[in-house]
Amino acid sequence: MRMSTIVFAVGARPNFVKMAPVIEAVGRLGLFRRLVVHTGQHYDERMSAEILDDLGFPEPDRFLGVGSGSHGEQTGFTLIAFERVLLEERPDLVVVSGDVNATLACSLAASKLGIPVAHVESGLRSRDWTMPEEQNRVLTDRLSELLFTHSPDADENLLAEGIDGERIHYVGNTMIDTLRRLEREARDRRVWATLGAEQGKYALVTLHRPSNVDHEGRLQAVVGALAELGANVPVVFPVHPRTWARLESLGGLERLQRAEVTCVEPLGYLDFLSLECGAGLIVTDSGGLQEEASALGVPCYTLRPNTERPITISQGTNTLIGDDPAAIAALRRSNEPPAPCAIPLWDGHAAERVADVIANAFGAVGAIATSA
Ligand code: UD1
Repeated sequence: MRMSTIVFAVGARPNFVKMAPVIEAVGRLGLFRRLVVHTGQHYDERMSAEILDDLGFPEPDRFLGVGSGSHGEQTGFTLIAFERVLLEERPDLVVVSGDVNATLACSLAASKLGIPVAHVESGLRSRDWTMPEEQNRVLTDRLSELLFTHSPDADENLLAEGIDGERIHYVGNTMIDTLRRLEREARDRRVWATLGAEQGKYALVTLHRPSNVDHEGRLQAVVGALAELGANVPVVFPVHPRTWARLESLGGLERLQRAEVTCVEPLGYLDFLSLECGAGLIVTDSGGLQEEASALGVPCYTLRPNTERPITISQGTNTLIGDDPAAIAALRRSNEPPAPCAIPLWDGHAAERVADVIANAFGAVGAIATSA
């Protein structure tokens, strides 16, 4: 009998971290031919190759080279290029993760060809339709046959949207699988020391959402607040290329440097995780970081009015500080040592559960029926 083919589609930084353990766990089953497709949404050495390398990610079988552009361009080019791969390879399942443009485009291409889609990190909802990620999540879930969730609230969201409960599988958090696998190695790197910071005594900052960095007035307010924070606690700020470009154009980098906020280029996975492990507090607008901070037990302050990850508030270390950057200035580090949170099924084994569900879904007839 022909071995069924599973395509794993990734495009941007967070996809690599969520998908790496899934590819490995499916590989361990020895039941499927695996094909890894990298759309190229992220392409810089720092945003892609270095992270893939740290993760021991398999060399992608196809690289689509889609690159940056407007949402329409990025989604559209990915749709066209990924459809070509699907037509050539005729896979039996496409696995996507998260909520980036690559996630939606690959799901749509597969669904239109009648190829079942499995979505890892399904069901998260911020209920903020202005976020591109929220649109990507809702649409991807609607197109998916297998929906893998990491928290009970995600199951509830999907059920409330009318998705058949039999297609929803609460498996846990594959991003935390990766974190647990590499945590020791990351801690041992002590990257904070190379930046002149002391363990537990610095703030780690990441900000890249369009709502926080794309408007000049708002970014100026962010810079002002970070400079004030820096007067109280040393700040380390790995800067996403999107944020870097905006800061450069309004002189924000010099202002931050004068305020002793250490701005560095984006880091690889291990170096960044090392900084997370050593931080006294984290300030962010990233989704993944709210989860990683909770798993590590480091207090996390999220510059957003909402989160699609409420479990990081109810059972983790996350606090929403709202929309006003001025709130950053008042943050202080705690003197308590980190207390890692034991969120159910964030136990380092989520990807194995994903692989088992996939194997079962193929069942005796060796195919997944589509009903989406
Ligand atoms: C994307 C995701 C976001 C995720 C983030 C993680 C969408 C809609 N957004 O945002 O959910 O949190 O990835 O990092 O998919 N750029 C480079 N080099 C790169 C990639 C991007 O310089 O390798 C620059 C380009 O100027 C590009 C800009 O960053 O236009 C934005 O990149 P893009 O992939 O469109 O969105 P992100 O902000 O990275």
